[in-house]
Amino acid sequence: MSTSAETLARTGGKHISHVLFSEEQIARRVRELGEQITREIPEGEDILVLGLLKGSFIFVSDLVREIRRPIEVDFLIVSSYGGGTESSGEVQLLYARQASIEGKHVILVEDIVDSGTTLNRLIPMLEKRGPKSLEVAALLHKHIAKEMVRDAKWVGFDCPQEFVIGYGLDHSEKYRHLPFVGVIEP
Ligand code: IMP
Ligand code: MG
Repeated sequence: MSTSAETLARTGGKHISHVLFSEEQIARRVRELGEQITREIPEGEDILVLGLLKGSFIFVSDLVREIRRPIEVDFLIVSSYGGGTESSGEVQLLYARQASIEGKHVILVEDIVDSGTTLNRLIPMLEKRGPKSLEVAALLHKHIAKEMVRDAKWVGFDCPQEFVIGYGLDHSEKYRHLPFVGVIEP
């Protein structure tokens, strides 16, 4: 695939081997997810959209604008990957406002469900804080996780088993700002 000059300017000359989900495809799908969430979340109750930083920051900002309900937005910081492309299996909760979860319907927003480790570790931690309900919205899902405490209720796209970047997803903190999801050349 030939990488556009615009993309090369953003990657610093690194080529994209293929685009999996274009900017337009993502925008359409995020709008659908927002409509679906609007229909399916309980009316007249406290809703908290909780984004998992940093990977979900673009997805959260697009998704919340498609949810036609009163909501609060907050973020969690967890760290599960080092600099590489392999999961270390460790999940650390680095920031989470204790008071913000209790009694609320929480929509946890993930960029991608890969091994499922992050959600498997995080969901029990959050459940202890007494949310009224807790469901997951994920932009991408690799469907390789064997056993999940709770699978995502809302999923944007099924993702092939490749290391993907863009639309919030990074490789060693780079490429988060690409407007599409793709695979970078090695
Ligand atoms: P899991 O715990 O293995 O499900 O992965 C959780 C986190 O790993 C995601 O929220 C991402 O931040 C990161 N991750 C997993 N797969 C990819 C990928 O293909 N590209 C970039 N980040 C990824
Ligand atoms: Mg990452």
